[in-house]
Amino acid sequence: MKRIVNQAAAPDTSFADALIAWQKQHGRHQLPWQRTRDAYRIWLSEIMLQQTQVTTVIPYYARFLDSFPTVAALAAAPTETVMAHWSGLGYYTRARNLHRCAQQIVAHHAGRFPSDPETLVSLPGIGKSTAAAIAAFAFGSRAAILDGNVKRVFCRVFGIEGFPGQAAVEKHLWQRAEALLPARDIEAYTQGLMDLGATLCTRTRPACERCPMQSRCIAHASARTAELPARKPKKAIPQKSTVMLVVMHEGEILMEQRPPEGIWGGLLSLPELNRLSVASQDDDLHEQLALVLSSFGDIESVETLRGFVHGFTHYRLMVTPVQVRLRQRHAMLAQSDYQWRALAQISEAALPSPVRKLLGTLSDSVFQPL
Ligand code: ADE
Repeated sequence: MKRIVNQAAAPDTSFADALIAWQKQHGRHQLPWQRTRDAYRIWLSEIMLQQTQVTTVIPYYARFLDSFPTVAALAAAPTETVMAHWSGLGYYTRARNLHRCAQQIVAHHAGRFPSDPETLVSLPGIGKSTAAAIAAFAFGSRAAILDGNVKRVFCRVFGIEGFPGQAAVEKHLWQRAEALLPARDIEAYTQGLMDLGATLCTRTRPACERCPMQSRCIAHASARTAELPARKPKKAIPQKSTVMLVVMHEGEILMEQRPPEGIWGGLLSLPELNRLSVASQDDDLHEQLALVLSSFGDIESVETLRGFVHGFTHYRLMVTPVQVRLRQRHAMLAQSDYQWRALAQISEAALPSPVRKLLGTLSDSVFQPL
């Protein structure tokens, strides 16, 4: 009888082995923050590289080190001087956190960067991935990075579905990142992940033919590099609909002065059936119109015009315009949100843009769009 030996599966080191070998031969080795173990320099580069490309960072990095050669020099500098050196790099919270971090290193860590990622991550501006990168490059600590580029590499190589910004997917990615860590050569491994993501496994048109992961990459095997990682799911945009009334009588058009609050607040718009309506939605259009327009006049003709969609930031409005001609007009209350305006001058009014467009398409001869 075979004995079942309860043996944990040996970790698969082939991903890390292939990456390390590739990095040593084909990766980047000449970046200004490489070939040093100075945690100050490494930390500075990692903060600058958080949201900015390598080519943009290089001159800033050099000027920064010229002016602030040590963490103590940076901590002692006035905030304005630090901000001035950052000016043009963007995401200025990084600069404020950088300065605060330098001051904390001096005040609480005797001017030396802590070597463990857990302490590093407690400092201003240092997230989990940045802490791991600093710990790996400056101290050779075995810690996992997971920035946007690395997420892309993992999603493609391992065929991970779902938007990486989603908590469950991100958790899975961190577990992967930790499980893949090599027992040695953490610097080449970490740099290799960054190099692969930045130079070959790019968001668009990845250079799969040169990739050391090609043979194991699920996205490549299934021709899905364009679909992985999954994009942020778009929120469904709610749709609303309205019937806009173009009520005309002898060269004049009925308009509604919109109340200050709500959409088109303060603008002069077209009357809308649902805003006027006391009529039941079950009645047919002609009955509803006869009811809601009874105080304005007697209807001569009704014509439903071509509908259109107007996009707002938070919803889409499906507009059905209905043109109504009155045969006879009733006197209007002095205090009313509704008013008759000469069609020939309506383009001078403060109109919402879809109303302006609609009136423009109706009658180019009497209506001159601004
Ligand atoms: N992006 C983030 N950290 C980096 C590094 N050390 N080298 C190149 N690109 C990076």
